[in-house]
Amino acid sequence: MKEMDTKRVPVLAIDGPGGAGKGTVSRQLADSLGWHYLDSGALYRILALAATRKGIDLNDESSLAALAPELDIRFGTGSDDSVWLDGEEVSAHIRHEDAGAMASVVAALPAVRQALLLRQRAFRQPPGLVADGRDMGTVVFTDAAQKVFLTASAQERADRRYKQLIAKGIDVNIGDLLTDISARDARDSSRAVAPLRPADDATVIDTTHLSIAQVVDQVLTLVTS
Ligand code: C5P
Repeated sequence: MKEMDTKRVPVLAIDGPGGAGKGTVSRQLADSLGWHYLDSGALYRILALAATRKGIDLNDESSLAALAPELDIRFGTGSDDSVWLDGEEVSAHIRHEDAGAMASVVAALPAVRQALLLRQRAFRQPPGLVADGRDMGTVVFTDAAQKVFLTASAQERADRRYKQLIAKGIDVNIGDLLTDISARDARDSSRAVAPLRPADDATVIDTTHLSIAQVVDQVLTLVTS
């Protein structure tokens, strides 16, 4: 589909810091609406993983930008949240806390963000797209029909991440998680290019005291009203 045509495809942009519930909420929204889903964070995580495997330094901006379009990345669809890199399932590797921290290092490099831009926009296909990330409403899909910024206190986000990881059998320390989350917030919010912030026309929802179902309902009301 040509870019002019895809511009008519509606986008629901869901941005916010890590652990605010974006992933779960966005998947459920995509499911309810019957729309496609873009997990943009996974692209940064995969790039960091691929670079590490190839021995590319995470600050080597030009090599990382050259690598980004080369990667053979595939996502599972619907309830299948598996992620594949060059034919290998890497879901567990990229969901690890270390992968998130490495992703936020490569994500601060302007040439890397530019290299991943078209790849992200290609997910905009009929009948619609739920795009989950940090800059969906501010950079990648500035014309999104609806923009939502989900947030929650750092302590609440650390608690949620702790429960998720323990449930997956990954052993973590809650104090370390809180430190990592705060460091990642600081890096994502202070970077010069596409810093984490709500778009001017975004609806901000604080999810600290809300269940996933309540957040999904609130966003669906926005989309359908
Ligand atoms: O959302 P997730 O935790 O998977 O993102 C991992 C990292 O990738 C974030 O901390 C952020 O640095 C980066 N990211 C980004 N822009 C996006 C999505 C993720 O900079 N749209």
